[in-house]
Amino acid sequence: MRIDIITIFPTMFDGMLSCGVISRAIKDGKIMVKIWDLREFAFDKHKTVDDKPYGGGAGMVLKPEPLIRAIRKIKTEHKRDENSPFVIYLSPQGKILNQKKVLELYKKKWLVLICGRYEGIDERVMRFVNEEISIGEYVLTGGEVAAMVVIDAVCRYVKGVVKEKESLLKESFMTKFLDYPQYTRPQVYMNMKVPEVLLSGDHKKIQLYRLKEAIRNTYKKRPDILHNIRLSKLEKKFLEEVITEENRRRK
Ligand SMILES: C[S@@+](CC[C@H](N)C(=O)[O-])C[C@H]1O[C@@H](n2cnc3c(N)ncnc32)[C@H](O)[C@@H]1O
Repeated sequence: MRIDIITIFPTMFDGMLSCGVISRAIKDGKIMVKIWDLREFAFDKHKTVDDKPYGGGAGMVLKPEPLIRAIRKIKTEHKRDENSPFVIYLSPQGKILNQKKVLELYKKKWLVLICGRYEGIDERVMRFVNEEISIGEYVLTGGEVAAMVVIDAVCRYVKGVVKEKESLLKESFMTKFLDYPQYTRPQVYMNMKVPEVLLSGDHKKIQLYRLKEAIRNTYKKRPDILHNIRLSKLEKKFLEEVITEENRRRK
C-alpha cells in the first residue's frame, strides 16, 4: 500500500508515523507513506500557498497551482507503478468514511490524500480529485487529522499489519453486530467478576455467550443497526431474550 499526503504541516504526521502498528508496517516495507510539503510547490520566494477568495468573504483559500503541481509530481515520480493513484480530498462535504469505504480505499492500493486548510481549496483542483471523503459531520481546522484517520483505518487491512487476521474479521462493523465485551486478568477486580462461562474452557458455550453479548451490545449502543439486518433463528431468540432482560433491568 502506498500513501502520499499533501499538506502545509508535514510535522503533524511525525507522531502517528513513528508509533505502534503503522510505524512497524512502514519499517517492514508493508506500507509506504510519503509526505509532500505543499509550500515546496509554490512559485514565489515567499512560498505562498493561499490567497483571498474571489467575490469576497472570510478567510483564505489554498491556491490551485501548488496543489495541482504536487499531484502531478506525485503521479510522475511513481509512474513506473502499474496503478495510478486514487486522489482524495479530505473535506467535510465528502462521503462519510465508514468500514465499507475503508475497505474500498484499501483496494485502491495507492492513495493521494490532500489536506485542506483555511476555507478549503480552489474548486478547480477538484478536476484532479477522484473522491471527497469526510470523517464526520463537523468541521476541522484542517485535513491532516482526517488524513490520519484514513491512513490508520485503511492500513490495518494491509496483509501482516495487524498480526491476528481473525481480529480484523470479527470486530465491530465487519460482522452483523458490534463486537462482544472483552475481559482480561485479574479474574476479580473491585468485586467485579469475569463472567464464569469465559473461564469454563467450553468453546461452544463461549461462542454462544459471545454472540448473545454482541447482540446485547448492539441493542444497547446502536439499535439502528438491528433494523437493517436479517437475523437467524438463534439470533432472533437471543435478541428477544436480551430485550426482556434489559427491560427487566431498567425497572
Ligand atoms: C475549516 S475547513 C473548511 C470548511 C469549508 N469551508 C466548508 O465549510 O466546507 C478546512 C479544511 O479542513 C478539512 N476538514 C474539515 N472538516 C473535515 C471533515 N469533517 N472531514 C475531512 N476533512 C475535513 C478539509 O480539508 C478542509 O479543507
